[in-house]
Amino acid sequence: MSDLPQLRLGVNIDHVATVRNARGGRHPDPVRAALAAIEAGADGITAHLREDRRHIRDDDMARLKAAISQPLNFEMAATPEMVEIALKTRPHACCLVPERREERTTEGGLDAAGQRAQLAPAVARLAEAGIRVSLFIAADPRQIEAAAALRAPVIEIHTGAWCDAAADGHAAEAAAEFARIRDAARLARRAGLEVHAGHGLDFGTAEAIAALPEVVELNIGHFLVGEAIFSGLGPAVRTMRAAMDKGRARA
Ligand code: PXP
Repeated sequence: MSDLPQLRLGVNIDHVATVRNARGGRHPDPVRAALAAIEAGADGITAHLREDRRHIRDDDMARLKAAISQPLNFEMAATPEMVEIALKTRPHACCLVPERREERTTEGGLDAAGQRAQLAPAVARLAEAGIRVSLFIAADPRQIEAAAALRAPVIEIHTGAWCDAAADGHAAEAAAEFARIRDAARLARRAGLEVHAGHGLDFGTAEAIAALPEVVELNIGHFLVGEAIFSGLGPAVRTMRAAMDKGRARA
C-alpha cells in the first residue's frame, strides 16, 4: 500500500452546462452536478468559463463559488476580461488554458515558453489575490521551465495525446506519451512545481496515471458526464475514485 496522500479528484462539470444549453432553460444544473460530485467524493470542482460562453456562464461560476464546500478551480484564458471575473469570483485556483474559438475542446497546452510576456501579468495579478495559479501545458521540458520562471506554483499536464492513443489502441504511441508525462512530472517536481494532470482521462487512464507519485490531482470531466448517462453521476465519480485509489496503491 502506498503511503502517499490520496490523489485529489477535480470533477469538471462543463458538459452538464453543454446539455443544459442545448435546450436553454435551467436543466440540468451544473451546480446540482457539482454538489452530487462532491457528495460522491470529488475533492474539488473545475469549470471553464470560455470566451464564447458555450457551456459555463458567468452566473454559473458565481453560483458554484457560493454553493460548493470544496475548492473551485476556475479554468480560463489569460485575458484581461477573465482575470477581472476571476478576481471578482475569488476561486481557490485558476488554471490558465489556451483558447481558440473554433476548437471543440482545449486541444493543446499553453505556450508558456513563447507567451511569457503575455502570461506574466495574469499570473502575477491572480497570485497577488491569493489565487493558486496553474498552467495547463504539454509534457515538454521547455514549458515546465517557463512555468517555473513565471512563478506559477502548479502545472497541469495535458494528457490528451496519451489518452487518444490509448483509446485508439495505439500501444507504442501510448507508451511513449505516458513516458513523456512521467518524465515531465518528475522534472516539474524537481523544479518545485505541484503537478496536476487532465484531459481525456477515463477509468483506465486515471488508474494508470495515479501510479505516478508526483501527480497530486486529476481533473476529469467529459468521460464522467458521459458515464453519468448510464450510471448516474454519483456512481461514476465513486468508480473513478476507486480506480484512482487502485492506481495510487501501486505508486
Ligand atoms: N483540465 C483542463 C485544463 C481542461 O481544459 C479540461 C477540459 O476542459 C480538463 C482538464 C478535463 O478534460 P476532459 O473533459 O477531457 O476530462
